[in-house]
Amino acid sequence: MAFTIAVAGKGGVGKTTVAGLIVRALVERRDGPVLAIDADPNTNFHQVLGLHVERTIGDLREETLKKIKDLPPGVTKDQYLEYGLQQCLVESNGIDLLAMGRGEGPFCYCAVNHVLRRYIDLLSKNYKYVVLDNEAGLEHLSRRTTQDVDVLLVISDANPIALQAAARINRLADELQLCIRKRFLALNNVSESMRARLGTESFREKLAQAGLALIGEIPTDETLWSLSLEGKPLSELPSTSPAKLAVHEILEKILRNGGGS
Ligand SMILES: Nc1ncnc2c1ncn2[C@@H]1O[C@H](COP(=O)(O)OP(=O)(O)OP(=O)(O)O)[C@@H](O)[C@H]1O
Ligand SMILES: [Mg+2]
Repeated sequence: MAFTIAVAGKGGVGKTTVAGLIVRALVERRDGPVLAIDADPNTNFHQVLGLHVERTIGDLREETLKKIKDLPPGVTKDQYLEYGLQQCLVESNGIDLLAMGRGEGPFCYCAVNHVLRRYIDLLSKNYKYVVLDNEAGLEHLSRRTTQDVDVLLVISDANPIALQAAARINRLADELQLCIRKRFLALNNVSESMRARLGTESFREKLAQAGLALIGEIPTDETLWSLSLEGKPLSELPSTSPAKLAVHEILEKILRNGGGS
């Protein structure tokens, strides 16, 4: 079974960036193949990974519903979906990527979703690690996209609003009784001035309210920011990148505390 890490948090806090750095760190460990899943309908995980997405699962779902009545003789819906899923999978060196694309339209997708979920579960078994980049907020929890994961890594910056969002994600995961084995909070985009405030009583109180164990802090990284402005992938970050080093450390802690090897 793949070890699954899902990344969540408020909009713009750095989920995709951290998920991408985790994928890069896993690839550098040379510990087995990694499946990256872009569960944000606003597909952009591929950009930080330097990959190209031609077709999303959302596209496949729509096409299947349109063509379901005129499939070529002898081709079952399951076969059509399986073939389509293979086309959605972006394969590269050590990292494969699946983009979920947009959500559902007005039709009934239950049967198609059922088949897709089964294939994605089967596909995940071919990998040592699965890293899931989620959309902002809580929708993915209530839609149960993020269920049955080993580690839910909630990202927040030091802004109280982002910390409140982290707390809500944590509470909702409890309420929905999702099967999440471990949950952690990582503070991203921590500037020098912000670092000085992290130890204050008032900040520690806000952190405690989130109810999540703090696994690490990721500093503000000017090089990372410039790469993103130029649309360049995270693989171009130098080995001295403070954000990259911090995420490597976080990953090691996740694998030690979360049960991965
Ligand atoms: N530690 C950091 N240092 C500098 N810039 C960062 C850092 N983390 C993220 N960023 C930048 O912040 C911006 C938003 O990051 P990202 O797209 O990862 O956020 P997100 O949470 O995935 O956003 P969304 O909610 O829209 O999916 C990007 O330009 C990214 O490069
Ligand atoms: Mg994102």
